[in-house]
Amino acid sequence: MKTQINLSSKKTAIAASLALCALAYAPEPAYAEKIHVSTPATSLVLDGEKGSGLSFLYYGSALSPAEIEALDNTGAAQRSAYPFYGNFPEHESAMAVTHSDGDMIMDMAVEDISRTKSGDAEITTVTMRDKFHPLTVKLNYKTYPDADVIETWTETINGEKGNVTLRQYNSGYLPIRRGDVWLSSLYGSWANEANVETEPLTHGMKVIKNKDGGRNSHTAHGEVMVSLDGKPRENEGRVIGAALAYTGNYKLRIDTDESDYHQLFAGINEENSAYNLKKGESFTTPVLALTYSDEGLSGASRNFHKWGREHVIHNGKELRKILLNSWEGVYFDINEEGMANMMKDIAGMGGELFVMDDGWFGGKYPRNNDSTSLGDWTVDTRKLPNGINGLLDEAEKNGIKFGIWIEPEMTNTKSEFYEKHPELVITSPGHEPMLGRGGTQVVLDLSNPKVQDIMFNMVDTLLTKYPRIDYIKWDANAPIMNHGSQYLTKDNQSHLYVDYHKGFAKVMDRIRAKYPDVTIQACASGGGRANYGFLPWFDEFWVSDNTDALQRVYMQWGTSYFFPPVVMGSHISAVPNHQTFRKTSLKYRIDVAMSGRLGMEIQPKNMTEEEIAQCRKAIAEYKEIRPVVQQGDMYRLLSPFDKKGAASMMMVAPDKNEAVFYWWKTETFHGQQLPRIGMAGLDPDKNYVVTELDRIDNEPLPYEGKAFTGKFLMEHGLEMPLDHNVDYHKRNDYASRVLRLQAK
Ligand code: DGJ
Repeated sequence: MKTQINLSSKKTAIAASLALCALAYAPEPAYAEKIHVSTPATSLVLDGEKGSGLSFLYYGSALSPAEIEALDNTGAAQRSAYPFYGNFPEHESAMAVTHSDGDMIMDMAVEDISRTKSGDAEITTVTMRDKFHPLTVKLNYKTYPDADVIETWTETINGEKGNVTLRQYNSGYLPIRRGDVWLSSLYGSWANEANVETEPLTHGMKVIKNKDGGRNSHTAHGEVMVSLDGKPRENEGRVIGAALAYTGNYKLRIDTDESDYHQLFAGINEENSAYNLKKGESFTTPVLALTYSDEGLSGASRNFHKWGREHVIHNGKELRKILLNSWEGVYFDINEEGMANMMKDIAGMGGELFVMDDGWFGGKYPRNNDSTSLGDWTVDTRKLPNGINGLLDEAEKNGIKFGIWIEPEMTNTKSEFYEKHPELVITSPGHEPMLGRGGTQVVLDLSNPKVQDIMFNMVDTLLTKYPRIDYIKWDANAPIMNHGSQYLTKDNQSHLYVDYHKGFAKVMDRIRAKYPDVTIQACASGGGRANYGFLPWFDEFWVSDNTDALQRVYMQWGTSYFFPPVVMGSHISAVPNHQTFRKTSLKYRIDVAMSGRLGMEIQPKNMTEEEIAQCRKAIAEYKEIRPVVQQGDMYRLLSPFDKKGAASMMMVAPDKNEAVFYWWKTETFHGQQLPRIGMAGLDPDKNYVVTELDRIDNEPLPYEGKAFTGKFLMEHGLEMPLDHNVDYHKRNDYASRVLRLQAK
């Protein structure tokens, strides 16, 4: 369906009583003009006319023109569509400035409403201008004809005589009517990313924030789901999702005050980031992506996934290769023979790509551990006598592609680079830099154009010299420490957090303009960069440094609230697991890894022939289901966070001719009762034949090769045996199943 934006000019009288209620937030126009921003299944309706404020009327399922008109008569108080600080300062605001003359009031009125095309997308822009100062703020709303997501952001243009300081500059604001409203957000830590937290929204302010400077999804995540119909359910109920697409520090506030609304604000974290705009300069915020679904959390996730694949993620519609990454297999112990063996092994299992992780570079200081050499991006020929070309030849010989690890934003004080360029790292002038990973790691000052050039040139040199490099693992293992820039002026030190990311964007734009086809993974001490802000340049991210299959069920579940499997690096690793020391069966590890972008993170030479054969078979099977896993629609069925003993979800092809059902036990007690899972997303009238993948049981499941209607599978479901029917010595407590469903 085509996106439509109606600017209806019907004059609407606002009842005096309603205006009174609304006065606390924004002066209401006496007569208003409706602005309808629509996607195929959703509507956002605003109200405003030239010379007046802009009001929010509605966000939810698509409205007809008559229903839009009826919004005037619901008795609801109008709310500001984007509250500016000044006239009603007792409330939270989305934007606050200090004007060039010191005035702190923003008295903003609509100056213009326009719509423009950008490819298939349509952008509605409401231009607002301060009544007392030549300061303009453009509120933008972008929609696509094929995605139920509205992107919103602002652009502030300083037409004043001197500097304007932005003190608060949110990307977007959304009032959400109170009721039985619940918030789902993600929280965690390194190796424990993306735990789902679910809570009812109550009075007061919920703040979700990041202040790391460089990585923004280890602890909190810049995305939330808001369930409007009570405790969140996966496949029922109305849900609003919000995702701030930004690479740096953010803050999401949900303020529940004495009014009828929860108020969601999202944007760059303004703390210690006051931003000065000179006369004539402008500032564009990152995008806040909003979605709405009446199909529960999973429905909102499907909207984000589709929008992400179609419009945000770099090469989001392409299938990803199956890879072996060297990190957990050899850590820093890189050498030519070891790499060659790993390449041969992954090729032998049917893999398509080998990625050499950390440890391959360094001259004066060899990179044997994490305390040296970042910045010295020359091949260590003591470890790799035939250089990268030798490895590329080896990969070619094995019929696979080759990838390489880099960490371009960093250096170590023990490096030739730092010895030459101590002025290029982040630190306040006169202070010694704080030291991070390995006791020596420091962050380059990306606000400095010289650093931007160095970083681009480093990647450019690597990819020009070795055009056969197919994949880059781009790591970032330090936060911004002692705040300060040796490049920024003394008045603009508070620009550091923002200008770092402006610099990052410039470098990435240049890299992508020249190298659109190289796959680039965003890794940042594991899952530190799982945010849509990164994904326009990155094809995927590393979900976590924790590869334990059981904990991955949880972490990948949480991550999937906002991100599709195609971007989730998900690897089979060794047992005991290197992070949790848990022993899970190879089947379980495969079955979990198969629900994301499948890879391996293991030393194959330590695997038995039987294990190699099992992985070879699984990789072949994954190739069959890869289009559904990586491009299908996700239906989460049973959450591990509900602690029912198992977790389950499925991926369904858009034409509903094929699906993959996953079921993983999350705890084991003898004789326990586990729920039978009704499937979702299938065509009720189609007949689906069931085939178990990665089968290890001596006997097939009773439904192997049998056909069931979609209706039956969704209403009734299939029983999952609690254990695997295997020889005694192979028994294990973590049962799992992957079922392929194919319409006959
Ligand atoms: C942190 C990453 O998350 C790991 O996967 C690995 O690449 C190491 N860095 C290498 O130093």
